[in-house]
Amino acid sequence: MTELEELKQELKKLNTQYAKIREVPAEKRGEFGRELNAKKLAILAKIREAEEAALDVAVEAIDVTAPCGVNEPLPEFYSVLEGSSHPLMTELDRVTSIYQLMGFDVMESRQLDDEFHMFDSLNFAKEHPARDGYDTFRTEEGLIPPAHTSTMQHRVLKAYKDRLARGEEIAVVVPGRVYRNEDVDATHEHTFYQCEGVYVSKDCTMGQMLGILREFFEKYYEQKLNIRTQPGYFPFTEPSLEFMIEKPKSLGGKKGDFLEMLGCGMIHPNVLKMAGIDPEVYHGFAWGGGIDRLVMLRYGLKDVRNFESGNLNFLKEF
Ligand code: DAH
Repeated sequence: MTELEELKQELKKLNTQYAKIREVPAEKRGEFGRELNAKKLAILAKIREAEEAALDVAVEAIDVTAPCGVNEPLPEFYSVLEGSSHPLMTELDRVTSIYQLMGFDVMESRQLDDEFHMFDSLNFAKEHPARDGYDTFRTEEGLIPPAHTSTMQHRVLKAYKDRLARGEEIAVVVPGRVYRNEDVDATHEHTFYQCEGVYVSKDCTMGQMLGILREFFEKYYEQKLNIRTQPGYFPFTEPSLEFMIEKPKSLGGKKGDFLEMLGCGMIHPNVLKMAGIDPEVYHGFAWGGGIDRLVMLRYGLKDVRNFESGNLNFLKEF
């Protein structure tokens, strides 16, 4: 017999005692009744305890380490049926697919980097004012959320340099999220995306770079484009260029309406040397540009802040 069953029998027996009250002399009935009641209350309390204990065993324990209330219905916000890829992720996939079709490998960037990859490995002289131009954030430990995907150039060169020894070329693109301590407005975000390209071989030329870039932009916007370059300055390329496309009519552009899409140039010999590649033997070119801007032009979007806003009305349009 379980403890609970024993207690219930005890209660039954006790209840029969109440009938005996008539046999008790009148002057002792009060005390007799009080004693019975006290016993009864004590047994009832024990029964309640035993019943609760039995219930605990029957109900499966809740996993308190689970990330959210596992027994709660999910808020509508999380509905899998309504969810979709963020437009920037979808477009970033298109971007990398176009480069992959041209033979490029894809290497992902990172969200925290250091002074060496952000500046030193890219031939920024110590104390050079160009370092300030990047408005970098810094953590208390002195780490840097990358302000451009160029932070990956040194890693790409080192990771792929064996290819050069085998007579192959290095051809890699690096998509990534980047951060700048900027005043935010319709055309400036503190958090955005870039895609970097790195190409190294014995005999590559600037002409090849411009050909690759033209091919990329014409594939991305699905039409022939007019392109233009103008001189630029980046410590990690020499010479450096700004690459522009004429805003297509179909996207609301007028003739002569050139937009700067990215920075590019021939990789500086010091950058190759720091990665252990002999600049007397090998040459390279690199480029990097914003993805948000690319996508805004394609869809005629006016406010870059929508991308990071979490605004469902905006996201549902895609
Ligand atoms: N990292 C530069 C920026 O964010 C863009 C850039 C310029 C990338 C020239 C390159 C390059 O790879 O060669 O402003």
